[in-house]
Amino acid sequence: MPCPVSIFPDLFRLNGRTALVTGSARGLGWEIARGLAQAGAKVLLHGRSAERLAPPLAALAEAGLAADAVTFDMADRPAMAAAIGKAGPIDVLVHNVGERDRRSFADIDHDSFARLVDVDLIAAHALTKLVVPGMLERGWGRVILVTSIVGELAGHGGTSYATAKGGLAAFARALATELGARGITVNALSPGFFATETNAQLIASPAGERQRLRCPAKRWAEPHEIAGAALFLASPAASYVNGHTLTVDGGVSASYIA
Ligand SMILES: NC(=O)c1ccc[n+]([C@@H]2O[C@H](COP(=O)([O-])OP(=O)(O)OC[C@H]3O[C@@H](n4cnc5c(N)ncnc54)[C@H](OP(=O)(O)O)[C@@H]3O)[C@@H](O)[C@H]2O)c1
Repeated sequence: MPCPVSIFPDLFRLNGRTALVTGSARGLGWEIARGLAQAGAKVLLHGRSAERLAPPLAALAEAGLAADAVTFDMADRPAMAAAIGKAGPIDVLVHNVGERDRRSFADIDHDSFARLVDVDLIAAHALTKLVVPGMLERGWGRVILVTSIVGELAGHGGTSYATAKGGLAAFARALATELGARGITVNALSPGFFATETNAQLIASPAGERQRLRCPAKRWAEPHEIAGAALFLASPAASYVNGHTLTVDGGVSASYIA
């Protein structure tokens, strides 16, 4: 029986692919972008400010990794369309931007609810509408939508964020069924409690300590611990993984009690 061991290392290589990772100036987006670049992809970093993107871009260049940057606010659809129009072919789209609002239902007015759902969910639809046609032409693509465990497990507060994240996972499943026969997979990546700089205050608070203890791993995840799961979904190794939500939460959502 042939044993094609030489194929195995290529299962996680992305040479010749270009990956756009939204919200990659810092946090999980940066870790995902760096991981995909290390796997051989040319990476397009993204954020609202070229100034904030300059240091991560320089870090990739210094490491000899191929990268460029695109800037637009997810809420600004004309700017999004102009930037994607100039970006060239995109083979892997990681939609990672996710603004938060942890306020209670009583405190979130309708306009703030609609704005957050627009940036976190509706903008993902706008972006896939711009990127997927090129993937269809080339017959290959990976769409990865970064959701959250709060899309399925609600806590107190954050109704707009939970709604957007739950919607993103549903969007991933629905789109997967339409694009699966055309060489494109669409999956969701659902992080649990990650120690990104955005969460620094929360981690230091009593609520953050309760979250740490709620996790079977008894710790917050290091931001780089998201990269392997993202690389898996983007890579040839996940060629038959479609419409799935991959949860990376140290077991939080597997347990009803710590
Ligand atoms: N950290 C966690 O524990 C955790 C848990 C579950 C899910 N998630 C999800 O994982 C993703 C990343 O989380 P994170 O903590 O790493 O996020 P973060 O630090 O808040 O993300 C920052 C990135 O998003 C960009 N960004 C924010 N709003 C934007 C907008 N309107 N338009 C364009 N870019 C925008 C920022 O760009 P600028 O430089 O322009 O500000 C920056 O690059 C989010 O979708 C989040 O919901 C995170």
